Amino acid sequence: MKKTLSLFALSLLGSMPSLAANEATVVLQPSEESPIIVKEIYGQFAEHLGTCIYGGLWVGPESPIPNTNGYRNDVLNALKDLHIPVLRWPGGCFADEYHWMDGIGPKENRPRMVNNNWGGTVEDNSFGTHDFFNLCEMLGCEPYLSGNVGSGTVEELAKWVEYITAEDGPMAKLRKENGREKPWHLKYLGVGNESWGCGGNFTPEYYADVYRRYQTYCRNFNGNRLYKIASGASDYDYNWTEVMMKNAGHHMDGISLHYYTALGWSGNKGSAINFNEEDYYWTLGKCLEVGDVVKRHCQIMDKYDPNKRVGLLVDEWGTWFDEEPGTVPGHLYQQNTLRDAMVAALSLNTFHTFTDRVKMTNIAQIANVLQSMVLTKDAQMVLTPTYYVFKMYVPHQDAKLLPLNVATPVIKARDGRDVPVVSATASVKNGVTTISLVNTDLNEEAKVTVDLAGVSARKVSGEILTAASMNDYNDFGQPEKVTLKSFDKGWQVNGGKMTVTLPAKSIVTLSLK
Ligand code: AHR
Repeated sequence: MKKTLSLFALSLLGSMPSLAANEATVVLQPSEESPIIVKEIYGQFAEHLGTCIYGGLWVGPESPIPNTNGYRNDVLNALKDLHIPVLRWPGGCFADEYHWMDGIGPKENRPRMVNNNWGGTVEDNSFGTHDFFNLCEMLGCEPYLSGNVGSGTVEELAKWVEYITAEDGPMAKLRKENGREKPWHLKYLGVGNESWGCGGNFTPEYYADVYRRYQTYCRNFNGNRLYKIASGASDYDYNWTEVMMKNAGHHMDGISLHYYTALGWSGNKGSAINFNEEDYYWTLGKCLEVGDVVKRHCQIMDKYDPNKRVGLLVDEWGTWFDEEPGTVPGHLYQQNTLRDAMVAALSLNTFHTFTDRVKMTNIAQIANVLQSMVLTKDAQMVLTPTYYVFKMYVPHQDAKLLPLNVATPVIKARDGRDVPVVSATASVKNGVTTISLVNTDLNEEAKVTVDLAGVSARKVSGEILTAASMNDYNDFGQPEKVTLKSFDKGWQVNGGKMTVTLPAKSIVTLSLK
């Protein structure tokens, strides 16, 4: 892999010491004006897909697997440590075939359906609206509902909102009969999902009108205020954002964007665990491209909404590799290595730089699907490397962004992609400064000089996530190979500067007081 100095670094050479390979500089730029990293950037996504819901989050109250009212205790406890702000459900593609009335009332009377998108598995609807809202209450997070536009009706979606949020009326009566007296609070409402594809194969012009119609009848009951989200573009489909903003921008609070770190949509996506160095750097380069993609969608939004009233919500992102051999086709089960942790950290660092427009992101998905937080196999659970990144980054939630400049060598990856050796983000909350640093280099450590610009560092503590190999992952019944450790020796503070030695392929979070 060829290493060069980043362009950004070259432009600063006049004011900075020259950089040898794997020496990087981070200059903090504290500012009173800087925005908050809204906690919703750390959102999650749970779809009726494979074993995400059934087996992953929910086993039912009769299960021998320890549970609380049907929710797995091990998974619940692990997820609580992530301070999940918002959870999107029930899809994904599943959402546009989901009929919510099939998922309420006595479980034994609920109709079954074929989950056509995901392996043709028969869905028994035993996990429905009440189960989802109860889960959100247990996790202390905001629910984000994805409504059925593709195969549903305006009436069906309008009634779902009424069922959930109205205090009185026919839908509230039905809810009460089903055991929930008080309405729930519902803020985030997605009007369709991937409406350009599995959500109806609409053109943007047609969907813009459909969106306007559906959202009209999704009412605000009893002081509940919906934040209405239009189904947005995938990746590089800038025309979708353009047409939606032009034709329906005034009727939405947010529009979504989906960006997966994937090799492509046909053929092989590569193994989640067996990959070489070239694949590793390519994956990181592809993940970092989300910055350019978000920027271009934002520029389009700026044209129609210069005051940034409408949020861009990256409500699906993460790695997408080949399904693990031997697992059910269509269930999108993949393992999670240190490479996935790198993707998580680099993506979050990138999202932090768009806080003026990006108001939520949701990694896909929370359990047993794509880039998961947890994987389960019967009664066993493992925490993934990605889980640990989300845990390390908790202090950034709702913290004030601390702007910074990074000068770093760059690794040239396949397809001309640039991967900075060092990536950094920082924030301040309750008098604590949190700096997260990533060394993407697989073989060499990185010496980082942080210009603290007056930020206090009298008391410093740190955590590190790394592993012996980039292919390492946490497996059932084995000691964890990728786990958080304390990082108390790799840094020094001297004369307003901090030097940090990041081991090869590591992610470090430092807490400064
Ligand atoms: O997350 C898996 C699937 O990816 C979702 O159901 C869909 O919206 C996207 O294509």
